[in-house]
Amino acid sequence: MDETHTDDTLREEIEQQVHDETLIEGATDFDSDYPIVIEGLRNSFGSQNVHEDLSLKVKRGEILGVVGGSGTGKSVLMRSIIGLQIPDAGTIKVFGRSITEAEPDEEIGVRSRWGVLFQGGALFSTLTVGENVEVPIKQFYPEISEELRQEIARYKVVLSGLPEEAASKYPAELSGGMKKRAGLARALAIDPALLFLDEPTAGLDPVGAAKFDELTRELTDTLGLTVFLITHDLDTLYAICDRVAVLADKKVIAVGTIPELLETDHPWIQEYFNGPRSRAASESHDRSEHKLKNNASEAGTQSGAKREAMSDVDTDDGAQDLAAKSKAIDNDAS
Ligand SMILES: Nc1ncnc2c1ncn2[C@@H]1O[C@H](COP(=O)(O)OP(=O)(O)OP(=O)(O)O)[C@@H](O)[C@H]1O
Ligand SMILES: [Mg+2]
Repeated sequence: MDETHTDDTLREEIEQQVHDETLIEGATDFDSDYPIVIEGLRNSFGSQNVHEDLSLKVKRGEILGVVGGSGTGKSVLMRSIIGLQIPDAGTIKVFGRSITEAEPDEEIGVRSRWGVLFQGGALFSTLTVGENVEVPIKQFYPEISEELRQEIARYKVVLSGLPEEAASKYPAELSGGMKKRAGLARALAIDPALLFLDEPTAGLDPVGAAKFDELTRELTDTLGLTVFLITHDLDTLYAICDRVAVLADKKVIAVGTIPELLETDHPWIQEYFNGPRSRAASESHDRSEHKLKNNASEAGTQSGAKREAMSDVDTDDGAQDLAAKSKAIDNDAS
């Protein structure tokens, strides 16, 4: 207990220091319901048009699920938003700052406000997990001392549900599920306001995937994140996404809650959400919600019941709990 208390105090101190040292001018006073606004986006590779007149607004504080068939341009869309893919036309604004007009290396004050978990992880294989997490800290906040940087990295590793010892391991020494968490730790390294997750649960077993979802939801709520979450995982959509954007025909053809999407008559949406896999995910979600209600009325505490209903694991708060949960995904495929 004392140890936990010390850890908590240390974390609070580190967080305070990070915030004191890293306030971004002009970014903290942003007051909009839409931190990401995309209009008229066009992306092409040679003669292949991937996006044509694509528009999308991401709401502050939401987890937006992004779905679409393979190759419809979900990853390209994410890369455009974070400035790695220069579009042929259109505008992308993040926290009111234009990404499309900025040079890749230009200091526009918002690059340090997002964290990214790339499809496939993209960890540096020659660096330990801790060093991987340190990379963005060093890049954006070189003035932070090495000691504090290492401390922050260890904290993010634990926050992402890995045991602290994982910080000194190399990616090759981790299971697939642990790699995802290491990638998440790096994405959270610089206390982002926006989190981009590209297929975070791909390759995880269903239990590991549900736990990763639960962690994403918890972090979103406790850290006040806005999340752009690309996924093929129907369980993820039902369990944690506030809204879902559907990519098809080179654009976002619809965005809304799943019941709202079901009211549209686009064939891909109908096939996707009315297919057998979607039905199974929906029914499983309904059962969880049912269990949640029962547990809540029995225990009188809804949040505890919800976590239990969603994951069927015992719950207790804090990073110790998250670290314990990560053990369950040790056997995931990579
Ligand atoms: N750097 C690139 N050069 C050429 N073509 C590319 C490049 N990046 C993506 N593409 C093409 O753009 C299209 C969209 O790719 P993208 O990776 O965004 O698909 P996706 O929706 O993320 O698919 P998946 O669900 O399989 O991850 C694909 O046809 C792909 O081949
Ligand atoms: Mg992709």
